[in-house]
Amino acid sequence: MFTCLNKIQPYFVCLSDGLLNPLYNYICSTYLSIMIYITRREHFNAAHKLHNPAWSEEKNNEVFGKCANPNWHGHNYNLFVTVKGPVNAETGYSANLKDISTIIRTHITEKLDHKNLNMDVDFLKGMMPSTENVAIAIWKQLTPHIDALGIKLHSVKLYETENNYVEYLGEE
Ligand code: NI
Repeated sequence: MFTCLNKIQPYFVCLSDGLLNPLYNYICSTYLSIMIYITRREHFNAAHKLHNPAWSEEKNNEVFGKCANPNWHGHNYNLFVTVKGPVNAETGYSANLKDISTIIRTHITEKLDHKNLNMDVDFLKGMMPSTENVAIAIWKQLTPHIDALGIKLHSVKLYETENNYVEYLGEE
């Protein structure tokens, strides 16, 4: 804020406070394009197994351990979606988190929750449902819907357990 004010103050020293404030807000948020990052968490439960059909059972067990169990296992996934955009001078928002939540629920969690990630999900078909691959697939699903809000997807962070998560920031 202070840095921004220093940049624009010379141009508005002659304006009254009443006029200066809206102009200040407009220029800080729009012209100087201050970007802010906001995050929404959503949750889903799902089953999967990690299994490479080209490998022997021994090799699958050696590489994937318990995750290779042929009769599946489940995780309580936590998904953190971060978007970035300028702060709108009228609302003080960069995006309405209700809109972000609706997009995530409609396009991701309703399709994944209580499902088998190896078998039930159209956008994961033919894919090893590791946390890495699921996070990348979620990014691809969300991108057009976040773009439509006039903001950008910054990161998809997917927690498979309390201690293990992956984060995808898109292609560099
Ligand atoms: Ni697993």
